[in-house]
Amino acid sequence: MTTPAVTQPPSPVTLSTLKRYKKNGEPFSCLTCYEASFAAAMQQAQIDTILIGDSLGMVVQGHGSTLPVTVADMVYHTQNVARANSHALILCDLPFLAYATLPDAIANSRAIMQAGAHVVKVEGGAELVPIVRILADNGVPTCVHLGLTPQSVNLFGGYKVQGKTDSAAAKLLEDCRAVVEAGAAILLLECVPATLAAQITAEFAVPVIGIGAGADCDGQVLVMHDMLGVYTRKPAKFVKDFLTDDSNLSGDIVGAFRAYHTAVKTRAFPTAEHSF
Ligand code: KIV
Repeated sequence: MTTPAVTQPPSPVTLSTLKRYKKNGEPFSCLTCYEASFAAAMQQAQIDTILIGDSLGMVVQGHGSTLPVTVADMVYHTQNVARANSHALILCDLPFLAYATLPDAIANSRAIMQAGAHVVKVEGGAELVPIVRILADNGVPTCVHLGLTPQSVNLFGGYKVQGKTDSAAAKLLEDCRAVVEAGAAILLLECVPATLAAQITAEFAVPVIGIGAGADCDGQVLVMHDMLGVYTRKPAKFVKDFLTDDSNLSGDIVGAFRAYHTAVKTRAFPTAEHSF
């Protein structure tokens, strides 16, 4: 008589897992996700971390920016993802102006963590120090998103690569130092030169996730719709379509997630073609 094979659910990824990956030089994968069926597919592909990004304002709701997204939207989508996930570490954005004051940052982080997030993501630099500190002191890990921060699109005057001049690069480094000293658990760098991202990744003990930030970051993230080739606008330079890529062995959506996960783990993605 043969014993039926028992499929063990993959063990949950925690901040300690990401720190171990960083120590061992093993990159980790992250994808945005906004609902249960795709979260289940990502779990099949063993994606390490999921971001419920406020990019949902653009790819799900059809807005021209992330600014119209509300805390209620983030809570709803986080609940949907969390129900189908027992593996990935879940990061969730605090949306536009949901952390402009400390009481707002605390109340809105509570709502998002109670919806099922493990880490709260905020956009900015050194000005976030009081928020990062009070959240860390109260058991809420933060991921600080630096570089191109889409909630500030109106300050930047468009979606542009950041940290290109010596002074801008020095300011970005100072911002990273300030938020890490305040207790940030993860840094996320968007659209920064690959050499600067590599320097930041080497300098700090916390995991650094990149999008358009080169191959040397500890983790990589893409917006799910982008990596499935579902574009509502011209894709950015850092995007790769894994659905139709030859590395997708099954040709389906789980296959695309697996191909992305493998490409990140083996540092086959991103290449110079996807970097600045
Ligand atoms: O909202 C989002 O999806 C993001 C990623 C682009 C990093 O912040």
